[in-house]
Amino acid sequence: MRLAQDNNNPTIANFSGETTTEKARYAKKEFLRAQILELVEQYGELASSPKEFIPGKTLINFAGRVFDERELVSLVNSSLDFWLTSGRESTLLESKLAKFVGVEHCLLVNSGSSANLLAFSTLTSPKLKERRIHRGDEVITVAAGFPTTVSPIIQYGAVPVFVDVALPWVNVDVSQLEAARSNRTKAVMLAHTLGNPFDIDAVVDFCHKYNLWLIEDNCDALGSQYNSKTSGKRRTGSFGDLSTSSFYPAHHITTGEGGAVFTSNDLLAEIAESIRDWGRDCYCAPGKSNTCGQRFCRQFGSLPSGYDHKYTYSHFGYNLKMTDLQAAIGNSQVDKLPIFTQKRRQNYLRLKKATESSTNEISVMEATYSSDPSWFGMLIWPRVGSKYSRDEIVRKFENKKIQTRMLFAGNLTRQPCFDEMRNNEDGFRIVAPLENTDFLMNNAMWIGVYPGLDEPRMQYVEEAIHDIFD
Ligand SMILES: Cc1ncc(COP(=O)(O)O)c(C=O)c1O
Repeated sequence: MRLAQDNNNPTIANFSGETTTEKARYAKKEFLRAQILELVEQYGELASSPKEFIPGKTLINFAGRVFDERELVSLVNSSLDFWLTSGRESTLLESKLAKFVGVEHCLLVNSGSSANLLAFSTLTSPKLKERRIHRGDEVITVAAGFPTTVSPIIQYGAVPVFVDVALPWVNVDVSQLEAARSNRTKAVMLAHTLGNPFDIDAVVDFCHKYNLWLIEDNCDALGSQYNSKTSGKRRTGSFGDLSTSSFYPAHHITTGEGGAVFTSNDLLAEIAESIRDWGRDCYCAPGKSNTCGQRFCRQFGSLPSGYDHKYTYSHFGYNLKMTDLQAAIGNSQVDKLPIFTQKRRQNYLRLKKATESSTNEISVMEATYSSDPSWFGMLIWPRVGSKYSRDEIVRKFENKKIQTRMLFAGNLTRQPCFDEMRNNEDGFRIVAPLENTDFLMNNAMWIGVYPGLDEPRMQYVEEAIHDIFD
């Protein structure tokens, strides 16, 4: 329906034929925009109101979008601008997120995996001189996690060196870091597992001692806090040289597809922006030209002098940008982060409490010392000798319509994507048997704690835990 031509609508009909000047056209557009947004708000209130919950019949998701009319209004408002790449919404979201995490720069991208790719490729830039990561250089990481924390290391021809995780925190076993280091080690790249910060003080000290880069994969932990002995209480994502976020619907906030790279290092931000935006040297925002004022006056590489700076490439880049439509959703979501974080913490504590009468049979992942996680989920595993098996626990939850998940890839090095590398000694290194990683792959599962679990759903999950384990 073309609203502007709908002469049956008395309010709109008053304007038809009168809009000869730009001012009148603008006024009419704004008038229509207000009407559209009013309708969207009404629609959004209905669309986002809590769905009926029938115990045992309604599925309890492990995660999901939590939104109301504000996200829909923001999205439609942006769609009316019809600015299809990154623009004012993206700039606003970048500044809100940088402030939230506590860093200088945020660069929006189109997924958390792209954020990891961008963060890692930033460290391969020739602009970093002797600290640049080359093919064959080593990067310390863990195998108990999500594949795209590790994929960029392999894609760039660097060598992931896997250390085990420590229980019950399910994060890097920092006692293995020294053994993992070689004279080719250039970086440490680790995720905060299911929102639980790794031992940041130990990892940061190790990186400082050997002049290594640290990338924090913060995709599952936006809003988690860590109280560092040296730098005080801060949000995760602000401790590494670079950090990453995912805004896929299961995550702490969503933009649909989406992610971000964070840093307080100006040079890393400049490199990351170049690689995100086709690898270009020019840093004009979309739709702008000649921001540097020297577009046709400089000489780069062996290009002719004065060659257009807009088409000058200092890196082999990608186009990983987020659109303004996505960022518009993010701008509403990010305002809700404090309340989302609080809800995740409350839900985790409540569900963990429900397991307390069964601690002789099962273990639950624990918060790392000095941390206050914004949990992504609650990981459970049967204790050695328990009467339960993981598969039985999963079946019982799923039968009660409560979704379950494994710890992502389990032991990543056992996945088929590693098949070709297993016989290639240069492909990856394992420092010591990944015993806890294998244990989790064989025994662990998790359920959700996301803010979409309202009171009736939370009560149902609490009762289910008692039912299954008591
Ligand atoms: C730790 C971690 N890193 C990276 C990603 C990738 O994020 P995306 O799905 O947005 O690509 C995920 C996805 O869940 C993740 O859990």
